[in-house]
Amino acid sequence: MSLDQPAGRQPDHPVAPQFPARWSPRSFTDRTVTEVEVMSLLEAVRWAPSASNHQPWRLVWARRGEDGFATIHSALASGNQVWARQAAVLFAVASKDTVTNREGAEVANRTAGFDTGAAWMSLALQARAMGLAAHAMGGFDKDKLAAAVGLPDGHTLHCVVAVGEQGSAEALPEDLRAREKPSGRKPMAEIAVHGRF
Ligand SMILES: Cc1cc2nc3c(=O)[nH]c(=O)nc-3n(C[C@H](O)[C@H](O)[C@H](O)COP(=O)(O)O)c2cc1C
Repeated sequence: MSLDQPAGRQPDHPVAPQFPARWSPRSFTDRTVTEVEVMSLLEAVRWAPSASNHQPWRLVWARRGEDGFATIHSALASGNQVWARQAAVLFAVASKDTVTNREGAEVANRTAGFDTGAAWMSLALQARAMGLAAHAMGGFDKDKLAAAVGLPDGHTLHCVVAVGEQGSAEALPEDLRAREKPSGRKPMAEIAVHGRF
């Protein structure tokens, strides 16, 4: 995969190139990903920040060709199944809902989802640094995926992430081919204001 800045991702202000350069393609080549590479992707997850360093993220992964890959894949929405079957590795990303407080009671971890979002982004940026692409999917059957990965009680599934080497748009079915391009962004004024909403 080219590590160049993709067209249509011109930032309005100076920013580290890794941010606009990351995007979510759907086409993946036949290249497999080794277990060593998977550990590097997960190492990036480990180092994500979290409230009180609780590290609530929990991931299940499987590589293409493994039984676990087929079960995670079967829980995806049909529109995602079409392209995600070619991913080299799928990660089901979940988080633990609670933390143990000083009195030893299990209490809700209000920031578990927020923290796990940071962890997925770490994985995505690490993937790109390794010449790979990552694409998150919220389109999945919650119960089916929970059963597929043996989700323990007290955990929430957030997304499935497909990782692989980016392939050519031509390899995709026609409807997806047209969508295989980096997206733009809302103007700055719509997402942040100085001082007060
Ligand atoms: C939590 C989450 C869920 C998403 N769900 C899907 C999905 O089910 N299918 C899909 O094709 N893309 C999905 N995406 C990808 C987004 O559409 C994509 O990130 C967004 O359009 C911005 O494009 P970019 O990642 O290329 O910058 C998801 C992304 C996130 C972060």
